Amino acid sequence: MRILVLGGTAWLGRTVVQHALDTGHDVTCVARGSDVPTGARLVRADRDRDDALTGVASERWDAVVDVSRTPEHVRRAARDLEPVADRYVLVSTVSVYASQAERGADEHAAVLEPSDDPADYGAAKVACERAVLDAFGPERASIARAGLVGGPGDHTGRSGYWPWRFARAAVTGRPVVVPARTDRPTSVIDVRDLAGWLVGAAEGGRAGVHDVPGEVVTLGQHLEAARAAAGGDVPVVALSDEVLLARGVAPWAGERSLPLWIPDDDHQGMNDRPADRARAAGLARRPLVETLADTLAWEQLQPVHPHGAGLSDDDEAAVRAAG
Ligand SMILES: NC(=O)c1ccc[n+]([C@@H]2O[C@H](COP(=O)([O-])OP(=O)(O)OC[C@H]3O[C@@H](n4cnc5c(N)ncnc54)[C@H](OP(=O)(O)O)[C@@H]3O)[C@@H](O)[C@H]2O)c1
Repeated sequence: MRILVLGGTAWLGRTVVQHALDTGHDVTCVARGSDVPTGARLVRADRDRDDALTGVASERWDAVVDVSRTPEHVRRAARDLEPVADRYVLVSTVSVYASQAERGADEHAAVLEPSDDPADYGAAKVACERAVLDAFGPERASIARAGLVGGPGDHTGRSGYWPWRFARAAVTGRPVVVPARTDRPTSVIDVRDLAGWLVGAAEGGRAGVHDVPGEVVTLGQHLEAARAAAGGDVPVVALSDEVLLARGVAPWAGERSLPLWIPDDDHQGMNDRPADRARAAGLARRPLVETLADTLAWEQLQPVHPHGAGLSDDDEAAVRAAG
C-alpha cells in the first residue's frame, strides 16, 4: 500500500513509519525536518502554508496518517487529500473528552467544544477530528484517541521514570519514594503498539472513532511492573497524597513529580478507558512489564537522569527527609 504520513520526524510518527516499512508498505512523509526512517521518501513542506500539500495531492494514496494537533493544518490536508486518498487516519487523544472524572467511559462520552487554538490541546484535537470526519465521512475516517503513550523514546519521562528509579535504588540502596495510595487507575499504551494500531487502520477495517489506551491497571500494579522490569527488590517509602503535596511533589508529569500519580478525583477517568471497541477491532498490546523493561533499556542510554519527569536523587532525599 502507498501510505502518506503527515509527520514522521518525531517519536510516534517515526515509529508509525518504521512499522509501515517493516510490514512492506511504501511510505512517504511530509514534514519540515529531514529525520525520517531510512526507506521512507520525504517531501519537505511547511503546513503553515495553504499550498503545502499541492505536490502530494497530485498522487494517489491508499491512506493518510496524520499526527497534527493544528486544526488549520488538518482542514487543509483533508480538503486537498480527500479526492486522492482512500482513508484518513488521525492520531487524536483521550484529552478530547469533556469529563476526565467518569471512570470506565467509552467513545460515546461527550467531548469538549472545538477550538482552533493548538495550545488548547484537547479542544483543538476535537476540531481536527471534525475536519477529518466532515471531509472523509465515518466510513473513510479512522480517529484513534490515544491514551498516555510510553515506551522506548519517551522524552517526557513518564514511562521511563519508575523503572529507572527502581533500577537506581538497586544500586544506591536508598529507598524509593512512592505514593501510599496505589489503588487508582493508570494506563500506558506502548508507542509500538499504538503504531501497529495506526498502520492497521491505514490498511482498512478500523473506520470510525476508537479509544486506544493501554490496559488499565492500578498505580500499584504499574509500580510492581516497573520494579520487576528493573529486576530488583528494593525498599520503598510510601507517603500520603497530603504529605507529597505539602513537600512540593508535583502529580502526573514534569519536574519534581511522581509520574502517573494523580491525587485529583476529577481526573481518575483519564486513564480508565476500557477500549472495548479497539480491542474488538484487533488492538494488540504487549505486557506492561515488557514496555517498561524496554523503556528502561532506552532510558539508561540517556545522558541525564531523570529527564522530563520525576525526582532527582537530591529531590528524593529532600522529600524523604522533610517533615
Ligand atoms: N505523548 C502522549 O502521551 C500522547 C497521548 C495522546 C496522543 N498523543 C498524540 O500523539 C502524537 C505524537 O506525535 P509525534 O510523536 O510524531 O510528535 P509531534 O511532536 O506531535 O509531531 C509533530 C509532527 O508534525 C510535524 N509538523 C509540525 N508542524 C509542522 C508544519 N508546520 N509543517 C509540516 N510538518 C509539521 C513535525 O515535523 P517537523 O517538525 O519536522 O516539521 C512532526 O513530525 C500527537 O498527535 C499527539 O497529540 C500523544
